[in-house]
Amino acid sequence: MDARLSSLISPEEIAEKIRLIAFEINRQYKGKELTLIVVLKGAMCMAADLMRLIEVPFTVETVRAESYGARGTTPGELTLTGIERLEIAGRDLLIIEDIYDTGRTLDKISQALLEKNPKSLKTVVLLCRKSAPKRPDFTLFEISDEFVVGYGLDYKEHFRGLPGIFILHP
Ligand code: IMP
Ligand code: MG
Repeated sequence: MDARLSSLISPEEIAEKIRLIAFEINRQYKGKELTLIVVLKGAMCMAADLMRLIEVPFTVETVRAESYGARGTTPGELTLTGIERLEIAGRDLLIIEDIYDTGRTLDKISQALLEKNPKSLKTVVLLCRKSAPKRPDFTLFEISDEFVVGYGLDYKEHFRGLPGIFILHP
């Protein structure tokens, strides 16, 4: 294992939380049909695990958010792609995102989706910073301000495949 990494959340803890959140989503959306909006690339692992436990009918769409790029841990300009082609008027939307940090990414995506008049919009995130200004509808884990990688989250595109979540020490 890379000496810069220390374990924060184990694969077992993630799996357990995914089960709990899926149970809650199944309860809240019983009798409805969902459109999952997966925010690439960071939410890929969570989306893959979560969707296999969702029992209400759903379709899946992806949007792409990029801000870090090759800069690593310093956010730059935020670009969103893939929202223009979505046909989501009247749909119940659930955005799946990796981390709610300042909230800039999720707020911008939510705003753009709401302009297309969905019936409802909720958000589920793997991680939410304790320092974040608001709270998503569903959060798996709250974390402090460390930079983390694994289970979809990257540092310069690396570490997305780690099965757990790790703190990356500079
Ligand atoms: P926000 O727009 O400030 O909420 O930041 C959200 C985006 O920044 C996420 O979608 C992540 O891609 C990225 N990000 C923020 N913190 C981390 C981290 O600790 N590790 C990896 N990516 C992060
Ligand atoms: Mg992301």
